[in-house]
Order: sequence, then C-alpha cells, then structure tokens
Amino acid sequence: MEIRSLEQYHKAYKQSTEDPEGFWGSVAEEFVWRKSPDSILQWDFEKPEVKWFSDGQLNITENCLDRHLDTIGDQTAIIWESNDPEEDSLKISYRELHSLVCRFSNVLKRNGISKGDRVCIYMPMVPELAVAVLACARIGAVHSVVFAGFSSTALADRINDAKCNLVITADGSFRGKKVIDLKSIVDEGLKASTSVKKVIVLKRTGSAVNLQQGRDVWWHDEITKVDDHCPAEVMNAEDMLFILYTSGSTGKPKGMVHTCGGYMVFTTYTFKTVFQYQPGDVYWCTADIGWITGHSYIVYGPLSAGATTVMFEGVPSFPDMGRFWEVVAKHRVNIFYTAPTAIRALEKADLSYVNRHDLSSLKVLGTVGEPINEEAWHWYDQNIGKGKCPIVDTWWQTETGGIMISPIAGITPVKPTYATFPIPGIQPVLIDEGGSPIEENDKEGRLCIGFPWPSMARTIYGNHQRYKETYFSAYSGYYFTGDGCKRDKDGMYRITGRVDDVIIVSGHNLGTAEIESAIDEHHQVVETAVVGFPHDLKGNAVYAFVITRDPVDNEEQLRKEILSLVSDTIGPIAKPDKIQFVAGLPKTRSGKIMRRILRKIASRDNKNLGDISTLLDPSVVESIKQGAL
Ligand code: WT7
Repeated sequence: MEIRSLEQYHKAYKQSTEDPEGFWGSVAEEFVWRKSPDSILQWDFEKPEVKWFSDGQLNITENCLDRHLDTIGDQTAIIWESNDPEEDSLKISYRELHSLVCRFSNVLKRNGISKGDRVCIYMPMVPELAVAVLACARIGAVHSVVFAGFSSTALADRINDAKCNLVITADGSFRGKKVIDLKSIVDEGLKASTSVKKVIVLKRTGSAVNLQQGRDVWWHDEITKVDDHCPAEVMNAEDMLFILYTSGSTGKPKGMVHTCGGYMVFTTYTFKTVFQYQPGDVYWCTADIGWITGHSYIVYGPLSAGATTVMFEGVPSFPDMGRFWEVVAKHRVNIFYTAPTAIRALEKADLSYVNRHDLSSLKVLGTVGEPINEEAWHWYDQNIGKGKCPIVDTWWQTETGGIMISPIAGITPVKPTYATFPIPGIQPVLIDEGGSPIEENDKEGRLCIGFPWPSMARTIYGNHQRYKETYFSAYSGYYFTGDGCKRDKDGMYRITGRVDDVIIVSGHNLGTAEIESAIDEHHQVVETAVVGFPHDLKGNAVYAFVITRDPVDNEEQLRKEILSLVSDTIGPIAKPDKIQFVAGLPKTRSGKIMRRILRKIASRDNKNLGDISTLLDPSVVESIKQGAL
C-alpha cells in the first residue's frame, strides 16, 4: 500500500473512504500479530465507542523489536546525542535495544508490575526513556510519560489521576546549562500519593538523591538482578497501551487513552508515508518523548518501521544556536522534524550558525505543533532545505495519535502555512457557525473529523463522559478537534489555531483554566482571566488579567510571586508573559467572562471590540484598555 506517486495517493485516499475496512485491513497485514484481526472496525460516534482490529492480538514491541532481529538486527535503532556536545553519542542496534528492553521488562516485573498496571515515566531524553516505554509495552503495563519540565504538582496530579503503581525517573536531567533535580521533584510529588509503591531511579547527572528505603531502587542495581529473556505479553488490539495527558478547557488535564493495535498500525503507516522513509535513512524528530510527537514519531512509528531514530537530550540553543545543524551534519540526518517555535528562534540567529554545517544529507523537513508562519516556512525551506527538501507541515493532536493532515513528502504538493491534504483514511469536515458541514471550498470553519481512524484516543482515563462532551458533543456525529481551519479553492487545509480555551505556546498545549486556577491560589488574588496573544517567537504567549484583593503597592513583587506560583503548579512553560492588574473583568450578566474582549485587548486590537452592551459593567473595558501592557 505504498504511495510513491500522486496518482497512488488519490487512489489510496479513494479506497480509504469507499472501503475503509478493506484499506486498513490490508495495511494491518504488514504487521506481526499473534492473532490476525478478522474484525476491522466497529464504531459509534454517539456513544462514543470505536474499536479497531478488535479480535486481533499482538504486542507492539514484537513489531518494534523482535521482527527486525533477523533482518536488520545489527542496524542502529537509536542514535543518542547528549546535551553536551563533548560527550560521545551512542548507537544502539535493534538487537541491543531488544536486549535492554527485555532486561528492563524483567526489572518491572521484579518490582511488582504486571499487565494493566500504570507506570509513570518522568525522565530526561536518554535512551533509557525509550527502553522504559517499550518495557512497559512489552509486559502490558500502561505507561504514562510526564514531560520532565512539569512541576511536582503537575506530576502529582497525573500520577494520582492514573493511580500509577510505580514511577521511573532519574537523579536529574541536563537541559542546556541547567541541571534539574528530577528525583527531588518526584519525592515532592509523591508526598500525596497512595498508589505508588516503587520508584526506579536512573543515574544520569550524579546529583545527590535520597533513596527512600523500601520504595526507591537504582536502575543500575536492578538490571544486574535479571536476565534479558522476556517473552512479550499477548495483548488484545483494544487493550490500553498508554495514557498521555493533555490540557483542556477545564483545569484538570485529560488522560488520553491510546490502545495497542490501531495506534501501531496508524503511526507506522503515517511515519513511512508522510516522510517517505526509505530503509537506511536517518530520521530525527527533535520533540521530547514526554509529548505525543515523541511517542508516535521517535519511538513507536520509526522503530516499528525499522528506522534509525535520533534521540536528542539537549536544547536548540546550547552550546550555541547551531546545535541542531551540527547534529544533522554529524549523523548525516536525512529526515528532520521539528516545531515552528524552534524554527522561529533559530531564524533569529546569525545565518553563519547554519552555514558552517554540512546539511547536504537532508531530504525531507517536517514541522508540527502549531501553525507555521509564512516567513518561518520560507526560511526553513531556503536555508535548511536549500530549496530542495519538501516540507511536511503535519497537523495532528495528542488525541489523534498520529498525523492527520499533511503533505506526503515529494509526492503531494506543498503550500506555505498549509497542512494541505488529509492522509488516507482521514475525513476532515469543516463545520459552520450554525453547526452544518461546509461543502464548498474557499471557506473557513471548525475542523471536525467525520470518520474514525485507527489511532484515535478511545477515551479519557477514568472519565468517558468528559471524552464524549469534549470531542463528540459539539457537533453530533463528528469528532471535534478544537481547531479553526480554512479550506482553499483547491481543497487544501490550513489550520488557523484553537477556537477553544486552549493556548498553544511554543507548540505546547496549555489550558487557560489550568493557569487561572494556579494564579488564583495566591492569597492576594481574587480572580484571574487568561488569554493568548500573538508572539513573535512563541506563536502565542499568555496574558493574565488579575483582580487583587487590595490595591497592589509592589506590582513587581506580586508579578514575581505569581510567576513562581505558575511555575511551581504547572511548569515554566505556562508562565504568563504579561500580568495586568485590573479592578474588574468584562462579564456577562450570567457571570461568564467575555474572553473575546480580553483577547482583543491583549492582542492590541482595540478598535473593534464588538458588542459590549451585554456586559454587566461595560465601563471595566475602558479601564482595562487603558492599563493594557
Ligand atoms: C494542537 C494539538 C501533534 C503533536 C504536537 C501537538 C496544533 C498541531 C499543527 C500544525 C497548525 C497545529 C493544533 C492542535 N497543531 N500541529 N501542523 N499546524 N496547528 O499536540 O499538544 O495535542 O496539540 O496543536 O491547534 O489542535 P497537542
């Protein structure tokens, strides 16, 4: 089912809509199943319930590891590049990775973990992170990876929501010049946990750690106590593979649940198709495994496809703004996948940071996470791709599990700022203000998906009702993405940004409610409203309007306190760029904050604030405008 020409794309797309079961059934045949699926799809968006390959049995790690041993066992599976350019990079073959994963699977078992248990992973970007993820999958434990930039409170919320039984962490992590003591963050987070019985600690930074007797063990001790023989647990296709949290419109993050079979089939298929991966290619996705991009396109998709995947521990700006390009040159990277926010930051640096490195190995470039602006697109195309590499602008979400709308490298056309056309199997629908599907082109609407695809999240962990309300209730019969979208005259899609209370800051998904409740914790704060506003580097930044109990004498001080509160409650990524102290917020008579008005003020788009007559007290608007930062 390979797509090697435009004609084949059209043919595949047509088949995927006319006969979705035939289409996905045949894609699924390329995998190793313990029992091949006869039943391909059952679905009902009203319930909602979706099942793919439901009578199939498999273990995803047999597809990512075992099946490659006889063919490409000695090929590099993971190239690891340290934060520190002086530290040697590592090359781990499929055979070695298989052995590491089996060994660590046995460590998990030794520490009381079995099928269905939840394991929280809070680690730096070191190979052991991929090993930990795969080891969970091998024994049927459900991993919940939490990005190691989240605070102890955010970590605790996620551990408690999933009732994790075990945490895997490290003493610390290196990020640029910083050393972050991960283990003490875990200790703090576990103070309120009753479910976690064990903590496995990897030594990475050599920072001093407190090992709690009976609970904490060292990774390096444990692996000496087991061998590397570990048969894979047989999983049903619809068994849970992992939980991954994402922000939503309310304060509580949503634990998106992904299952084994459909996720494997779709991430592998899209990896090979979108990037046009060829055997021998070196592929580098710069994301962190703490996000869905890392799950699907550093670990599962590439490994299942038998690719060589680069894992980078550091940041684009350390030791200098040329680091990405240095790594591309060093490992002769062929396919490079990053976020617009990184491109914008690197674009600001002197071009000599790019030009001193040999980028001639590059064949395909990708972006993900937020809309890419035209200028950044052209900079990327000209200076990194030298005008020769197709750019795949891939639109998808934590919830979708894999790439949904994107060019297919070198095969379907590209258009700057457009995610262009849907991947086979994906049926995008634009919905108008009145809730009806828009048939015509050259129109804008809310982006929905009208038909199930294999890697869609099946539920929100422990809260199916919220899953239904968030994704299937806005427009009956459709999955609602939360994004606004334009379809041009040729049928190409351009994502215009969120239309709900989620702000994408530097490609990270943040819920306004989450930030508001963090700020409201301050004893001097009465109420907060948070909105996003356009930002040159971050895409969007956070603007907080804060009502305080008493007039503020020392604004500077209070701002500092609020910032550290947000940092401690969520993480540094959620810190507002601007905090304006206000006497009141624009509210409707029913008490709802009119964010639309605040968004305009924050974006300095004051002229047309729209109808404010329905406000309880329209005069607050003028005073907020005057104090705007
Ligand atoms: C939201 C999902 C998918 C992995 C990273 C983000 C925005 C994502 C694009 C793109 C425009 C994009 C959307 C989406 N987004 N990719 N290529 N063009 N917007 O996953 O954290 O779940 O965020 O990111 O708004 O809904 P996420």
